[in-house]
Amino acid sequence: MDNTGIGIIGCGIWGTIHAQTFSTSPYTRIVSVCDKDKDKAEQLSQKYGAKKYTTNYQEVLSNPEISAVSIATPDHTHTQIVLDALNAGKHVLVEKPLATSVKECKQILAARDASDAILMVDFHNHWNIPFIQVKKMVDSGELGDLQMINVRLNDTIFVPTKMLSWASKSSPVHFLGSHVVDLIRWITGDEIIKVYSVSRSEVLRKKGIDTQDFYQSILEFSGGTTAYVENCWILAENSPNIFEFKGDFTGSKGSTSVNVSHHRMIEKYTEQGTGFPDVSGVVDRYGQALGFCTASIEHFIDCVRNNSQPLVTGEDGLVATQVVEAMEESARTGHPVDLQTIID
Ligand SMILES: NC(=O)c1ccc[n+]([C@@H]2O[C@H](COP(=O)([O-])OP(=O)(O)OC[C@H]3O[C@@H](n4cnc5c(N)ncnc54)[C@H](O)[C@@H]3O)[C@@H](O)[C@H]2O)c1
Repeated sequence: MDNTGIGIIGCGIWGTIHAQTFSTSPYTRIVSVCDKDKDKAEQLSQKYGAKKYTTNYQEVLSNPEISAVSIATPDHTHTQIVLDALNAGKHVLVEKPLATSVKECKQILAARDASDAILMVDFHNHWNIPFIQVKKMVDSGELGDLQMINVRLNDTIFVPTKMLSWASKSSPVHFLGSHVVDLIRWITGDEIIKVYSVSRSEVLRKKGIDTQDFYQSILEFSGGTTAYVENCWILAENSPNIFEFKGDFTGSKGSTSVNVSHHRMIEKYTEQGTGFPDVSGVVDRYGQALGFCTASIEHFIDCVRNNSQPLVTGEDGLVATQVVEAMEESARTGHPVDLQTIID
């Protein structure tokens, strides 16, 4: 089978991880990359050996050599690009969140259904080894019936103020909360039926970034499990890691705790401070990307080559956005929000 021709739209931080993965896979070749910023597109094309680069994503979609595209543009820009890609018959791997409204997610699913294309949302924690271990404990019954979950997925203030130029168009729940909703739906195998959230907007607004500082949410699952979820964008910038990701899962027969942020597998003390370098997300092994963040992209490649459905579907993207929208509504109104089943 020939190598699959790939296009990458969005050549920022995460588009670079897609490019690194596709460029070292024996099954793919990057045909063209696109970014609104010509310099970024040109640099990525040179670094990862793409034949072409462009500032107009339609040129990627009309290229017959390309059968699959990765879309790694800002959260609020996914919808039109995904719709155009599906309508052009390209298989699509889109970064999380699928889109920032339920209405847009439904439009995307309708376009996927009208095409023969594969659509995958890059919720890569399904490949994150500590969470795979938790899922196995839950599925085997070792923990008994899951009663209570606590998950904190937080970023330092560096992320909305210095890393993302578009933070005011997203929020801690779209950027971080969507990951957690997807993670705990997957681990429980259950659906969220009620959402209570509070948020505050003070610190970032004072810095001119019009989005929430944090959300604290309680989610109730149909089977009775409850989850407390924290998503914040204002951790201290001098925290030892750019993000904090911790989870506690308490069942009727046992409990387990995960810390994929301050795991301390490697400790580093230098003149710049203390740090715990990444050992699992994306590690460059002499030019080859290794880790769970690349494993999800490799899974998409397998699906395209085998014409099989991905482990994370457009429906997972839709439900994550439905729950995030409910978090926003609950925080705005001060009332809990009941959720109806949105997928078959
Ligand atoms: N899976 C994860 O854990 C993870 C982590 C970080 C970011 N992300 C997601 O990846 C996406 C990109 O985030 P990032 O951190 O790489 O952001 P970024 O700002 O570094 O990169 C986004 C790039 O998209 C380009 N762009 C914007 N609109 C475009 C358009 N219409 N056509 C072509 N290029 C366009 C920008 O110029 C920029 O270079 C977001 O959806 C984000 O939530 C996922």
